[in-house]
Amino acid sequence: MLKDDIKEILFTKEKIAKKVEELGKKITEDYEGKELIIIGVLKGANIFLGDLIRKINIPLYIDFMAVSSYGLSTESSGVVRILKDLDLEIENKHVLIIEDIVDTGLTLKYITENLKSRKLESLQICTLLDKPSKRKCDLDIAYIGFEIPDEFIVGYGIDYAEQYRNLPYIATLKKEIYL
Ligand code: PRP
Ligand code: MN
Ligand code: MG
Repeated sequence: MLKDDIKEILFTKEKIAKKVEELGKKITEDYEGKELIIIGVLKGANIFLGDLIRKINIPLYIDFMAVSSYGLSTESSGVVRILKDLDLEIENKHVLIIEDIVDTGLTLKYITENLKSRKLESLQICTLLDKPSKRKCDLDIAYIGFEIPDEFIVGYGIDYAEQYRNLPYIATLKKEIYL
């Protein structure tokens, strides 16, 4: 069973849902009357984005970027690869990037630098989880769900070696799984 690999649940699905609702409400207020483009960072942000957009009550567009820096490891390689670029035209739009977790920040640094060259009306970041202790670069994050300590976590979209994304909660893994 999937849950046999879990050490401890950090955020239950109820706790996540409550936070997602709060974030959605805040985003709704902040972007009322603006043309909003939501950009999800695949694959991790997929589940968070799916829940979050249903708590945002203004018209919006959705697009995805696929990047990867971790591959099958628990450490960021620092090398970010774009696997899929945007389909929508985002020039002169208000862009909000959705992430599941900001760790070293290298993924978002790369993406924001890349998007800034495209002349946007505004660019902000919304992440469900923030692990500031691991940050390797400066990053302004407008919306943060939870701050977390330096532990390797999985679930609610977040993987270890491409597994555990389908757990409905966010949890730590037993050490023997990844050592
Ligand atoms: C994970 C996570 C973030 C990024 C955060 O993605 O989903 O996108 O790493 O780490 P960083 O702040 O150190 O860059 P990953 O590269 O594992 O791809 P995935 O979303 O497909 O799992
Ligand atoms: Mn990711
Ligand atoms: Mg990953």
